[in-house]
Amino acid sequence: MEQLIEKLASTHDLTDDELRCLIEDGSCDDLLFQKAEALRQQIYGKDVYVRGLIEISNYCKNNCYYCGIRRDNRQVDRYRLTPEQILECCAEGYDLGFRTFVLQGGEDPYFTDDLLCALLKTIKSRYPDCAVTLSLGERSRDSYQRLYDAGADRYLLRHETASPAHYNKLHPQELSLENRQRCLFQLKEIGYQVGSGFMVGSPYQTTDCLIADLRFLQQLQPAMIGIGPFLTHQDTPFREFENGNTQLVLRMIAILRLLFPYALLPSTTALGTADPLGREKGIKAGANVVMPNLSPVSVRKKYELYDNKICTGDEAAECRMCLSRRMESIGYKIVVDRGDVKSPERTKTPS
Ligand code: 5AD
Ligand code: FES
Repeated sequence: MEQLIEKLASTHDLTDDELRCLIEDGSCDDLLFQKAEALRQQIYGKDVYVRGLIEISNYCKNNCYYCGIRRDNRQVDRYRLTPEQILECCAEGYDLGFRTFVLQGGEDPYFTDDLLCALLKTIKSRYPDCAVTLSLGERSRDSYQRLYDAGADRYLLRHETASPAHYNKLHPQELSLENRQRCLFQLKEIGYQVGSGFMVGSPYQTTDCLIADLRFLQQLQPAMIGIGPFLTHQDTPFREFENGNTQLVLRMIAILRLLFPYALLPSTTALGTADPLGREKGIKAGANVVMPNLSPVSVRKKYELYDNKICTGDEAAECRMCLSRRMESIGYKIVVDRGDVKSPERTKTPS
């Protein structure tokens, strides 16, 4: 095991069989996390980047079996923020030191290209020093292009699982891995800094699924990779399944750091929900981004992708301060900066 970890840390790759050993055997996690943290330290130091997450709509036309805001969940109190409310979140976020705003939502046809383009232009003109990230699911290539031309810098779209059979166990048949992956490559081609990722411990996931996830990411080479545990939501078809394992999430974060030295790796809200110190542990396993919530408190509870989501009662300022404290408690520091991905050739953003 020690040799495998050494090999991964020095060559940034392993064979499938070696990855399988590492994923399934937690006996050397401490060494693995140490190596990942050292590599992150080399490239990003003790800096942790923040992204202000604005949950703009919990309407969704999709019906993913794991997700709390799926179309068929009648228990959800649906909302969408107005452009004015979104701009208010940005203003508050800017004052709190955020230089990246992430507009995330379900796939809600109300947010047309015209509406979003106007909004993007306003945000970018008011905050030219900020990056805007969209996380609004699958759209057409033309739509992605228009949003990019209106000023969007980045796009987050997790591939969820890179195994086609597994994808079909998590999603109804109108959704396909093929289309998901096509969207990701289109986003990249257009020029977005792309974020992808997957859930750990989702129903029917095997080690082979996780290896396929890593191989797909090696193909895509995204700027950001977001992972977190699958967490049960009581009003979904997956209500009887158990939560994903936190330790396995941490192990996967460390493996990702060693495979993708320069990647932006968030320590996610789902990880913080599964374990009260989950986000701190994620950073110590090699992550370097946190994404506190900037949504108005009035809608927080309604954007519940899984049960018991943290921070649903807290004001943006509280989350910001809470995370600063948490990062400082483990020797890290949140920076006021767009937090662009670094690359071996240059330290500024790819245009
Ligand atoms: N548990 C954990 N993560 C979830 N997501 C959606 N539903 C759940 C759940 N029940 C994740 C998906 C999605 C991201 C926004 O949240 O990976 O891409
Ligand atoms: Fe929201 Fe701690 S990050 S309360």
